[in-house]
Amino acid sequence: MRVLIINGSPRKDGNTARLLNEATKVLEAEGVEIFRYDVGAKVIRGCMACGGCARAGKCVLGDDVPMLAAELAAADGVIIGSPVYYSSPNGSLISLLDRLFMSANCDLRMKVGAAFAVARRAGTDTSFDVLNKYFTINQMPVVSGRYWNNGFGRAPGEIEGDAEGLQNARFVARNMLFLMKSIALGREAYGLPEQEPVERTNFIKRADV
Ligand SMILES: Cc1cc2nc3c(=O)[nH]c(=O)nc-3n(C[C@H](O)[C@H](O)[C@H](O)COP(=O)(O)O)c2cc1C
Repeated sequence: MRVLIINGSPRKDGNTARLLNEATKVLEAEGVEIFRYDVGAKVIRGCMACGGCARAGKCVLGDDVPMLAAELAAADGVIIGSPVYYSSPNGSLISLLDRLFMSANCDLRMKVGAAFAVARRAGTDTSFDVLNKYFTINQMPVVSGRYWNNGFGRAPGEIEGDAEGLQNARFVARNMLFLMKSIALGREAYGLPEQEPVERTNFIKRADV
């Protein structure tokens, strides 16, 4: 089993990193291979809507997105952790995820996804929702825990006092492993769910028609 872990925080050893490490320990103890990517202080451009990925099969803006797309293709699951900035995931992470998921060019079906949001006080639920949207538009089962996956702390290390958040990360990791193993067995026994040609409609209609 392989899991791609993305930490959006510019603080490599911040609270989000600490929460992700808690999940990582559980997965690694069970032999899961981890590829960890910390967005850190990298300058990540937002999606330019240039359509280059549709033509080239990968994001054409440079940086690490094509490499991460290859990691995503090879993974059985993905974990995304974000600090909360103004009740949302941090900007560089969103820029990265928009481009990664738009250009992924691989079958994401039944790769499982887990999201974590970390804040001083508020905005974890809204951020959690935003992150889960990358999974739920791609036929990716969402891994849940015993609470909505959050953690609390302001200065790096403060999350150490959030025993419940850290414990929840361990629950999520175990549930993720169970789901990945179950899906691997299900794939073998039944194959992936049948697909249909995709209907695409836009909500563009004059109100008086
Ligand atoms: C630009 C900015 C905006 C923030 N907005 C919020 C917020 O909306 N709600 C909150 O509770 N904390 C907010 N914080 C605090 C961080 O979420 C908190 O320090 C968190 O632990 C950062 O995670 P990290 O250590 O992984 O970077 C904000 C911090 C920054 C730098």
